[in-house]
Amino acid sequence: MAGKPGYDGAQDWRAPVRAREEEGAAGAANPFGRGDPAPFFFLSACRFQIGHNGALKIRITRQDPMTYAAITGWGKCMPPSVLTNADLATFLDTDDEWIVSRTGMKERRISHVSAIEMATVAAKRALACAGLDAADLDLIVYGSCSNDEQVPNSASGVQIGLAAHHAGAMDVNTACTSFLYGLSTASAMIRSGAVRNAVVIGVELISPYMDWSNRGVAVLFGDGCAAVVLQASEREEGVLAEKLGCIAEARQTLRVRGMGCAYANRNITLGDTLWDFDGQEIFKRAVGGMSQASEAVLAKRGVRPEDIDLVVPHQANLRIIESVVKRAGLPMDKVMLTVQRYGNMSAATVPVALVEALEEGRVKPGALMLMPAFGAGLTFCAHLVRWGERVTPIGHSDAELPPSPRSALEIVNGVRAIRAAQGGRSDAGLISVEYAEARQR
Ligand code: ACO
Repeated sequence: MAGKPGYDGAQDWRAPVRAREEEGAAGAANPFGRGDPAPFFFLSACRFQIGHNGALKIRITRQDPMTYAAITGWGKCMPPSVLTNADLATFLDTDDEWIVSRTGMKERRISHVSAIEMATVAAKRALACAGLDAADLDLIVYGSCSNDEQVPNSASGVQIGLAAHHAGAMDVNTACTSFLYGLSTASAMIRSGAVRNAVVIGVELISPYMDWSNRGVAVLFGDGCAAVVLQASEREEGVLAEKLGCIAEARQTLRVRGMGCAYANRNITLGDTLWDFDGQEIFKRAVGGMSQASEAVLAKRGVRPEDIDLVVPHQANLRIIESVVKRAGLPMDKVMLTVQRYGNMSAATVPVALVEALEEGRVKPGALMLMPAFGAGLTFCAHLVRWGERVTPIGHSDAELPPSPRSALEIVNGVRAIRAAQGGRSDAGLISVEYAEARQR
């Protein structure tokens, strides 16, 4: 089917039917008025039942219009300190030519503030863009794999920063796909009627956990954040369909040793990490997973590649994006790219790219967008999103990060110096952990 894809409630979701049931014995007053014939739609809405006392009961079910989760606000918060390829080459055996040719990356950002601070600024900007008061938020979904703390959760930190006192607050961690899994979660809750207004955040603060001695990973990642506001709508907008998946048999190909409870009490200095990172295997799996998910989500809605107006993919490597887009039968000029300026910001890459696409006027009213992504796990997904009519903000927030007192290279060198002063690496503890999947075999 070409053109405007419909929303297939039966196939994709439990249809959000709000049933109003009225019970009455047979012979109760005709709801259409004395003498009026009950129209066919009334009969079709009736369920007949014999009650325990033998009386005939009529249950009248009313189906409200379908509820969608429209994206009505957007905002990003990028830390200002820029780490260039030349900066990395001051302490790693690498160079600009290798990094650009293998990844497409020229620079990335390093944050001088916490992830929750970035998320709060991005969420304030998204709320202003939607013209929504924080007091009217029902839900905050915080997508990330680099939380400031394990307990309490991070979404609660954003709730206090926004003064969103009526909102539930939850974290979602599926690594780089966390924003999109969070988008699915919040959209489904809006469609079910559980909430009406939500903010979904994709944020990552990877630099404190980075193994800055490993050129194979240190050049790839950066910090950043963006958020969107979702609101209940009767117009067919927001996520029309998604495909979520996980290649768990390959979960060992991307593991940050040193983050999490498995590493407690092993003489490991927090922040000292060792990355298991099989780049070529991840590359292959990423292309396969994102391509499969993209194909599935287009087929689900009967959409042809040429119906897609813009692709907003996860930005882990330019070559991965090129392979996925080629396999999907789409041209690169329909792809929003940020990888060259921000590197891989994990959960933040898709929302930041979406916000920048809006800022650059690349999202047209009614646009149909494809958002494929993958991350550690190895989770993967693709979302088909219909944009609404409005592509400009209703308002602007004056929320800002404090200025950074240090350059990105100074921040990174500060982390490296602290680790060196702590007496070097905790390799024995990092390597000796037996993981859940090994015990399950
Ligand atoms: N600078 C210079 N040389 C380097 C660097 C570097 N930064 N890193 C690795 N090399 C060297 C290697 O040591 C190797 O040298 P050798 O041939 O002497 O052994 C050589 O370059 C080639 O290394 P490969 O790993 O084969 O390089 P490849 O072309 O596969 O590119 C890369 C590596 C960029 C990591 C690629 O495999 C990739 O992007 N994989 C996907 C990774 C990814 O997307 N991760 C994110 C996962 S999910 C998430 O987003 C959290």
